[in-house]
Amino acid sequence: MDIDVFTLFPEWFAWFREQRHVRNALAEGARLRFLDFREHTPLSGGQVDDTPFGGGAGMVLRVDVMDSALRAHYGLDPVELPRRRRVIALTPAGRPLDEEYVRELAAEPALTLLCGRYEGFDERIVEHFCSDTLSIGRYVLAGGELAAMVVCDAVLRKLPGALGDASSAVEESFSAALEGRPEYPHYTRPAEYRGWSVPEVLLSGHHERIREWREQRSRERGE
Ligand code: ADE
Repeated sequence: MDIDVFTLFPEWFAWFREQRHVRNALAEGARLRFLDFREHTPLSGGQVDDTPFGGGAGMVLRVDVMDSALRAHYGLDPVELPRRRRVIALTPAGRPLDEEYVRELAAEPALTLLCGRYEGFDERIVEHFCSDTLSIGRYVLAGGELAAMVVCDAVLRKLPGALGDASSAVEESFSAALEGRPEYPHYTRPAEYRGWSVPEVLLSGHHERIREWREQRSRERGE
């Protein structure tokens, strides 16, 4: 198993890496890397996020920043990446993590986990670079780092030799404002990136139409 975690806070994982079952899994040949995607931002001042098109609170991680980080690390266009390894965006509105999902991931040769922060990812990151979105539960954490630890923990302990005793190995999402539904997709600058454009309505400045569009997307995601 080869797991890469892209994060703005790689130092968070220093403690995690030292945990016994993690060390055991690494000693058995698993590989775990923590990569700072700010290192590869093409923007000045280490910028990685931007304000959401259409307005609203919070900041959104930019698609060009994630493109650069994945490209620098893997040496290929990240649209190719999901064909080679499971690329997972950690987000509260993703596929709920359960035992079946953990087993599925533990059977993969390689995983890439993308940790969001702020309001989350520009939706084009998810659409074009990811194979999965994953949620550890229907609540909103400050970022994906703890979720990445949950995933790594759950997956690594499935690997042979990870546990000392193998027999023991047997307007945010869901808010009242959205009537408990998942959140709508976010987009930020650039409005056009590699031919992927932001929905026109979000650039219109027409608040009522934006609200309706978001409500509609939210309802579709909640179905
Ligand atoms: N990022 C923020 N909250 C999250 C959650 N519940 N699951 C996965 N990633 C997240």
